Amino acid sequence: MIRRSQLDLRKFVAPEFICGYGALQLAGRCARNFGVKRVLLVTDPGVRAAGWAEAVGESLTEAGISFSVFDSVSVNPRSTQVMAGMEAYRSEECNGLVAVGGGSPMDCAKGIGIASSNMRDILAFEGVDRVPVPAPPLICIPTTAGSSADVSQFAIITDEARKRKVAIISKTLVPDISLLDPEPLTTMPLELTLDTGMDALSHAVESYVSNASSPMTDMHALEAIRLIRDALPAVMERPDDLDLRFSTLLASLYAGLAFSNASLGAVHAMAHSIGGACDLAHGRCNALLLEHVIAANYEAAPDRYDRIGEIFCPVQDGRTSPAESIAAFRRSLGITGTLAAVGVRKDAIGTLARRAYADPCMVTNPRRLTCEDIERIYERAL
Ligand SMILES: [Fe+2]
Repeated sequence: MIRRSQLDLRKFVAPEFICGYGALQLAGRCARNFGVKRVLLVTDPGVRAAGWAEAVGESLTEAGISFSVFDSVSVNPRSTQVMAGMEAYRSEECNGLVAVGGGSPMDCAKGIGIASSNMRDILAFEGVDRVPVPAPPLICIPTTAGSSADVSQFAIITDEARKRKVAIISKTLVPDISLLDPEPLTTMPLELTLDTGMDALSHAVESYVSNASSPMTDMHALEAIRLIRDALPAVMERPDDLDLRFSTLLASLYAGLAFSNASLGAVHAMAHSIGGACDLAHGRCNALLLEHVIAANYEAAPDRYDRIGEIFCPVQDGRTSPAESIAAFRRSLGITGTLAAVGVRKDAIGTLARRAYADPCMVTNPRRLTCEDIERIYERAL
């Protein structure tokens, strides 16, 4: 059982952000306010094809700011892509970064920023508070609602050589400003809408039960869960509804403010391990692990998990556990697979568990889990 007091010392870090329809068009003005002359615009081929990178480019041009585009970013951004972006940033003589896309381009842009300002390989910054020199100005424009890279002090980069994800956590990774516009979300495929929504739910749940939670993060986490409960199923039915899209963006914002300051837990530690080894969608990994981690953690924070369960199942009948409520929500959205179905093999569990055990997110999990405990959770989710 965790003992918490509201008198425990806590800090809360958040970027400046502008929310609402048309926020994307403020990119040029914001860059000019930061004194930026030339921007490296970091995006990916899908977002570029949807026209959002071009729209941001127009805003930069109207503000008199030149730019070059770097779109060599994959799902689960790789260290080599970050270093290629750093080369582009330096050779193009840029002095600011604009990221347009989901978590992958935003994390890649964060990596390019700190690698450039410190002139070091991105993998050297793994862990907590290991970035000595701040990054150049960074503007983030999310086109998905879930990663919260647009507000967080996290960047997750894949170390290809070792097939593992590296978590970099530093205040220097908080963007200077984020522009939260619901319109770019309308071109996102439904499967991505679902996966990123479940990522946001995992952020909110894990930060609410985290050892480092606080009254400031609790408020954001609980409201994020309520918003996801209502808006995610609805937006799957009406993906062009801007109000619903904005509700999912708000949910991502609140969940991001919560987890950026309270950190995460075993769901993310275990999802990072799978994502690094198998290159799977991060949100889907979380969705398939969440209920199993809740079941394993429950006794360490029963009141908190019960409060989450009540959001999904308001009349507690004494039979529906929080883990079952979350599982029912997942199934109602059409996520019915297992880890085995997405390619995780039983003989890989030992290695996956050892890597998850060493992930920085495990530090704030409400229950101290051994490698054997983690293996058992993987087995149940298989
Ligand atoms: Fe996540």
